[in-house]
Amino acid sequence: EIGELKEYLKIERIKTAKERKFPKTGLVPTMGYLHEGHASLLRRARQENEIVVLSIFVNPIQFGPNEDFERYPRDEKRDLELAEREGVDVVFMPAVNEMYPRPTLTKIAVGELTDRLCGASRPGHFDGVTTVVGKLFHIVQPSSAYFGQKDAQQAAVIAQMVQDLNFDVRIVPCPIVRESDGLALSSRNVYLSEEERKAALVLSGSLLKLESDINAGGRVTAGEARKGLLESIQAEPLAVVDYVEVVDFPGLAPLADSEAIHEAEGPVLVALAVKFGTTRLIDNVILNKK
Ligand code: PAJ
Repeated sequence: EIGELKEYLKIERIKTAKERKFPKTGLVPTMGYLHEGHASLLRRARQENEIVVLSIFVNPIQFGPNEDFERYPRDEKRDLELAEREGVDVVFMPAVNEMYPRPTLTKIAVGELTDRLCGASRPGHFDGVTTVVGKLFHIVQPSSAYFGQKDAQQAAVIAQMVQDLNFDVRIVPCPIVRESDGLALSSRNVYLSEEERKAALVLSGSLLKLESDINAGGRVTAGEARKGLLESIQAEPLAVVDYVEVVDFPGLAPLADSEAIHEAEGPVLVALAVKFGTTRLIDNVILNKK
């Protein structure tokens, strides 16, 4: 049985640990153009591990044909400076042909969780994410890996992959880091014009208002939350809504419109994706955390 095998390996490893210690290794996978959100993951990893590995790899297979792979922002020098400041031990920065020396015929695809939210608008995206993260886990063999709740669906999909495929990695979710005006940090924020940057505040503004209403004891149904968010976002002329969803977390199944958020069984993810010009931004809050 898996349990027995693990117990056996544990005992054997403890025996050999006297001669050869296997240090705790934390992995922070990123696509670079690092900001405070990435830095917060590195700090958490630094607190909890002896070795901290940062990977920087703009992963072509998670971008759709009409997406921004070619123009994804890059700044190696600044990234390395940030890594140094945060006490990173190893920066793994492979070239595309090192990660994919030949066409990839094998992929990791998580079902169901990837059909919804961002998965519905970005077909194949999460297969690209899980495939590269699976490869990174095999290459680095981390004991823990750190992911931001900014990409809540991504964190849920990776946690599912780890359980389903018995990866021996602890997935550590980390809170969203925001600018002082509320905008969630993202490497893609550099694409925004000054006007779009201002307009984008409607996302965090309306999500954080919903959060405080519910934390103040308000009874808000999933349907009302969705409708309220849609209305306030659509009142912003530059915003083009891709989706606004209220789902359970981490299962990602939609709540019934009539269900009150504070009465839901577990945590509730309110997530949205909205385009400003050519830039697609995502943001979310997790409510009902116990
Ligand atoms: P990237 O967008 O660079 O994000 C790397 C990690 O930083 C992700 O776990 C993401 O959730 C986290 N992150 C980004 N912005 C954040 C914020 N404002 N607050 C907290 N955490 C934040 O996500 C990816 O890269 C890729 O899909 C990857 C997992 C590396 C696979 O290619």
